[in-house]
Amino acid sequence: MEKVVRISDIKKHVGETVQIRGWIHLKREHGKHMLFLVIRDGTGFIQAVLRDDIKGYKEVFNSYREASLTITGEVVEDKRSPYGYEIRVNGVKIISPSQSTIEEEIQPDSSVEFLLDKRHLVIRGEKASAVLRYTDKLLRYLREFCIERGLTEVVPPILTKAACEGGATLFPVKYFDETAYLTQSSQLYLEAVLPALGNVYCIQKSFRAERHRTRRHLLEYYHFEVELGFINFEELIKFAEDTIIHIVKRTLEEDYKILELFGVTDLKVPRQPFKRMTYAEALDFFKAKGVSIEPGEDIEESKERMLVDHFGEPVFLTDFPAIQKAFYFKRREHDENLAQAADLLVPTVGEIIGGGIREDDYNKIISRLREINANLEDYRWYTDFRKYGSVPHGGYGLGIERTIEWILRLEHIRDATLFPRFINRLSP
Ligand code: 4AD
Repeated sequence: MEKVVRISDIKKHVGETVQIRGWIHLKREHGKHMLFLVIRDGTGFIQAVLRDDIKGYKEVFNSYREASLTITGEVVEDKRSPYGYEIRVNGVKIISPSQSTIEEEIQPDSSVEFLLDKRHLVIRGEKASAVLRYTDKLLRYLREFCIERGLTEVVPPILTKAACEGGATLFPVKYFDETAYLTQSSQLYLEAVLPALGNVYCIQKSFRAERHRTRRHLLEYYHFEVELGFINFEELIKFAEDTIIHIVKRTLEEDYKILELFGVTDLKVPRQPFKRMTYAEALDFFKAKGVSIEPGEDIEESKERMLVDHFGEPVFLTDFPAIQKAFYFKRREHDENLAQAADLLVPTVGEIIGGGIREDDYNKIISRLREINANLEDYRWYTDFRKYGSVPHGGYGLGIERTIEWILRLEHIRDATLFPRFINRLSP
């Protein structure tokens, strides 16, 4: 019996006869007596050539795309094949057929909603599956970086009573006789764990009840968050820069094929220190461009992009008005009205990182919670850090899907996630 191999390993088997188990990704007749197939097995794609004198040819000829099958044949290197290798098939067996409808299901001009309905089939495509594979790689690079830096991974709860990012985007959940919320960020839990484990991180879902559909908002997104103790603002920014540098470096080293598939030719490791701009400087920038933003007003999405696209490289925005930011930010020493907050903006997407230094004084954090009318009992576990050995600390959150959108130059966040959640979109 032939050796079963994965397509991703195919180059190790040139000259051998092997078996591949997978699906018919594409099928095309070549003359009267030959079929060209592209076979997919989840690890990659390969071309396979079938002559009509082999057993099973008819069955394959009559099959539709996505039929599952096994093929056996010799592996040959072939520069003309888009995958570099080819299987000269001498045996084939259909495992399960595919319905004819698949041939019309997904077309390049199908509507966005239709493609979202059929997302479970769309993800079988070359580009959509490459995004998912890259997601796996990005998560590894982030973990690799944290392990190198001595951080410990933790898994905080998703159901919570403590709002982290304000009431407007909270998702309530009936929790027996109480109301719980789906977590907006794991930050508060990471802060509470810090005195137990030192520097920590998590890669966890966060939820935001976003009513608007935009190119960069999901209701449920994947959130990489770190929390670091005994740290100041500058050290935090440096740590965030190092994270970005690590993931871009590793992507360039390992994922050049994926970058090529998406036509990304200009991804560069950003130079350190990254460009910096305070909120006040950003307002001057917009004024010079004839765009007016009232002092204190949020810099909305399209304006963020305008700013970062102008520079063509990542930019840290800092020193936001404290009233714009969540309750937990420590204020600037020289100005109580400014938060020690930093957002990292990248070209084409805008903000991918949000973070800063936390208020570590017990009385101040309590009065901030009072200002937002929080029920202090729900936050006791959080504020206790300030009561039992508080230390200066800070951290940030990086949106995984937005980072993928940036690195692979995707047009929309819906293509950067497995099964996107938006308002009116809960399926598949
Ligand atoms: O700026 P945000 O809201 O910050 C926090 O949640 C902090 N508590 C994080 C922390 O300090 N531990 O969100 C952080 C990042 C954003 O920069 C963005 O990349 C992503 O999370 N993000 C979203 N991604 C997709 N869809 C949404 N609706 C997102 N909201 C935030």
